[in-house]
Amino acid sequence: MCGIFAYLNYNVHRERRYILELLFNGLRRLEYRGYDSAGISIDSDSVPSADLGRNFPANSMNPLVFRQEGKIDQLVRSVYEEVDETRLDLDQTFSVHTGIAHTRWATHGPPSPRNSHPQSSGEGNEFLVVHNGIVTNYVVLKETLVRHGFKFESETDTEVIPKLAKFVFDKLSEEGGRPTFSQVVLEVMRQLEGAYALIFKSPHYPNELVACKRGSPLLLGLKEFKENSDGGTPFNDVKFLTKTDNPKELFLSSDANALIEHTKQVLVIEDDEVVHLKDGGISILKFDSDNAKATGGLPRPASVQRALSILEMEVEQIKKGNYEHYMQKEIHEQPESLKTTMSGRLIQEGPGKVKGILLGGLKDYLKTIRRSRRIVFIGCGTSYNAALAARPFVEELSGVPVSMEIASDLLDRQGPIYREDTAVFVSQSGETADTLLALDYAKKNGALCVGITNTVGSALARNTHCGIHINAGAEIGVASTKAYTSQIVVMTMLALAVGDDSISSKSRREAIIDNLFDLPNKVREVLQLDDEMKDLAKLLMDEQSLLMFGRGYNYATALEGALKVKEVALMHSEGMLAGEMKHGPLALVDETLPIVVIATRDACFSKQQSVIQQLHARKGRLIVMCTKGDASVVCPGGSCRAIEVPAVEDCLQPVINIIPLQLLAYHLTVLRGFDVDQPRNLAKSVTTQ
Ligand code: BG6
Repeated sequence: MCGIFAYLNYNVHRERRYILELLFNGLRRLEYRGYDSAGISIDSDSVPSADLGRNFPANSMNPLVFRQEGKIDQLVRSVYEEVDETRLDLDQTFSVHTGIAHTRWATHGPPSPRNSHPQSSGEGNEFLVVHNGIVTNYVVLKETLVRHGFKFESETDTEVIPKLAKFVFDKLSEEGGRPTFSQVVLEVMRQLEGAYALIFKSPHYPNELVACKRGSPLLLGLKEFKENSDGGTPFNDVKFLTKTDNPKELFLSSDANALIEHTKQVLVIEDDEVVHLKDGGISILKFDSDNAKATGGLPRPASVQRALSILEMEVEQIKKGNYEHYMQKEIHEQPESLKTTMSGRLIQEGPGKVKGILLGGLKDYLKTIRRSRRIVFIGCGTSYNAALAARPFVEELSGVPVSMEIASDLLDRQGPIYREDTAVFVSQSGETADTLLALDYAKKNGALCVGITNTVGSALARNTHCGIHINAGAEIGVASTKAYTSQIVVMTMLALAVGDDSISSKSRREAIIDNLFDLPNKVREVLQLDDEMKDLAKLLMDEQSLLMFGRGYNYATALEGALKVKEVALMHSEGMLAGEMKHGPLALVDETLPIVVIATRDACFSKQQSVIQQLHARKGRLIVMCTKGDASVVCPGGSCRAIEVPAVEDCLQPVINIIPLQLLAYHLTVLRGFDVDQPRNLAKSVTTQ
């Protein structure tokens, strides 16, 4: 996934330097979405050249485009070098100005300036576009445009969009006078297939921006000021998007992280909506794709009136605070994030109240879920592992068979999903393409679709029948940590809610609810292992490979621990089912290969003890995670290194057990000198298949 951002100041005087820094900062807030190349476009001081033989509006300015390979800081450096060379006046002030920006996660064409965005319609930059998503029919469109004389510079799918806009603009201009900016974009949308969020800028439409989306996320942020206050006195209670001449600043962003420091007043743009920012106004047109397809002619867009919503997040959430890295901050935030995940959902015994769980988003569906033929957990990466950790307990409390599906594999197999199934989709971002496509597949097969996500207004939240927000707060580190533990707790609460009609499990449920109340304290306790994990990382930092064995609830812990080490420390690491060890992996064991065995006390403890003995018998180099006080039991005579963790109810132990492994992965990454928050080749969520 990429990050797209735009800024339009209207009747608020802003220097070019201020506008540049604001665009750069917007990109920094979105960098976790993709960080292999970036670009921006702002207005120059010169009018479009006459050589283009076009009639540009009098106040039209030639757009400047800056694109660079690498992180945002490399783009910033190259922009200021070019500014110096061209003596661009950074003190130039604009009462109205439009700037667009992009940070990339390459899908088509390797990271390079020419494959970065904004992509252009060609000479004169008559149309510029920043894009998040994939155009699936770009090859066909490219062939058509080449036949009409367009020359392509990049290997991107995106380049067809600004060229198509120019093609449409020329055609509509010839047919009947000057189209509006949104008319051009509507016609472009009619021809595009795939997932996208787009922002258009054009010297044909100075001081205007048009944005549209289908599938990929896009938000509009509004900061309106009192009349004649030139950005002095902001309004804080703008409810509806009305056209006013009041000074205002408008922001477009792929997510709330780049908006929260400017405004809390946002609009989540829906699929097939076109947002036109012009003369201080915000008009929203709904593109009726079905009608467009049916009529094949210009779509007759419907105008949409929508209210703004208030962002429920604080700017602190997107700052590192006293931590060096977001991943480190998010690991140490888990006592608080787990509290917010459970707040208002755990009911403690009291006058007229029985101990229980309240999941507002599910209450009307609990009966249906209880009667399900199967509960099918579907997700990718860490989200899949979280569901795997919760599976045994959901099976136990619901009495409904629970199956696991990795989203891409379910789609590849076109695996069976029945109308009597409850399909539970787990996704931190709520935007992961494979998970969303699996959702479409399950919906087509008639299953009840439940969403578990950390992102309010995400595609998953909007397209499932019901769901639960995990409320873990913004997670910026690409390797997911606090979302994982909150996902497990949410699915544990789901099991408690589904299972709360059975008498037989009453005491078990109450014991777990008590444990949930105390969980933040236990997490605070296990976070004390930070230095111990740093020491262990020093021992392992030069290793090539690290194995992790778990079973029962902690098979997921082994998978997730290994995934963290792979994702950020760039060290080969494999999580394995301990029960499978004798059927192959045991061959790998020798006195050099470090092996983590998760052996905290639960129903599988004795089996894990025999695994440890078999590994000892082959001089295995063991690191055993065990329940506090068990070090001498699992590593008699100091025969191996023990990591003692606090004991909690078995189904919640994966929440505790993953934290030392998150810390180990973090310290290994820092010691090995790799990028903790933006590991190479990865992105926070992959919005393309
Ligand atoms: C990957 C992220 O892109 O997607 C992982 O790097 C994440 O951290 C996985 O677990 C799934 O993302 P999501 O948002 O669907 O949970």
